Amino acid sequence: MVAPTFYAIVVGVGSGTGASVARLFAQGYPVALLARKESSYAPVVEAITKAGGTAVGISTDVSDAQSVDAAFARIAREWPQAKLAAAVYNAEAGFSYKPFLELAPEDLDRAISTGAKGLFYFAQKTLPLLLDAVGAGPKHPPTLIVTGATAALRGSVKFAAFAAGKFAQRAITQSLAREFGPQGVHVAYTIIDGGIDTPWGKDREFNGGVADGKISPDAIADSYWYLHTQPRSAFTQELDLRPFVEKF
Ligand SMILES: NC(=O)c1ccc[n+]([C@@H]2O[C@H](COP(=O)([O-])OP(=O)(O)OC[C@H]3O[C@@H](n4cnc5c(N)ncnc54)[C@H](OP(=O)(O)O)[C@@H]3O)[C@@H](O)[C@H]2O)c1
Repeated sequence: MVAPTFYAIVVGVGSGTGASVARLFAQGYPVALLARKESSYAPVVEAITKAGGTAVGISTDVSDAQSVDAAFARIAREWPQAKLAAAVYNAEAGFSYKPFLELAPEDLDRAISTGAKGLFYFAQKTLPLLLDAVGAGPKHPPTLIVTGATAALRGSVKFAAFAAGKFAQRAITQSLAREFGPQGVHVAYTIIDGGIDTPWGKDREFNGGVADGKISPDAIADSYWYLHTQPRSAFTQELDLRPFVEKF
């Protein structure tokens, strides 16, 4: 087998957005797929392999620095000569939907540890690799994409903990875009403004259950590929996506 020249990493590979992004990016690159549980990424690895792509699943807790170090050491062993073309941060960010007086400090910890600290660890590992890829003749500018949410823009009733993590995540991503964009790395944040139509959330109803009232994870993946392929003369820093009937 010919060694790959470029590869991609997706962290937070569940059956929803993570799976759709992984499947689409696997059409362009070998992909490393990270989540804590093997059961989260294994079906995606299998689907990609069956379709003729290359995927490696690695059990990783992105909120744990040692676990992130181990994952990147494993990726370096897997593809020692290849450069990182794209990295996607999609880990579920400690979602809790509770009245403020029912929130526990642990809810805030979960939102901060996966929403912000995990991104911090992941970005410190991926940005040197993306910078290294800039001069290696990539077809598209090396890219870091972070999955955000409405809660990154505004706090709401029952969102005090989750919004705190997402605000922090957006702040980190904006700062990275301003630091690394001029060095040729495209850093983008997506405001996912609505419920995603995930297999695990089939029973969750949004917008009165109207057709297309939830966001298709495959459509999100298409937007991520579009972000990745943007030329450096026209980088998007933030992209918002919502169903046509979403009130905003
Ligand atoms: N679902 C929605 O309606 C919605 C709406 C707006 C925004 N979002 C955003 O979309 C992103 C997730 O997409 P999704 O909801 O479609 O989920 P998904 O891609 O189906 O799954 C996300 C995966 O993240 C993994 N994860 C959680 N904590 C992790 C950690 N500490 N380290 C590594 N992996 C971790 C989980 O697998 P393990 O448990 O195996 O780790 C989970 O399966 C999040 O940023 C979320 O805030 C979601």
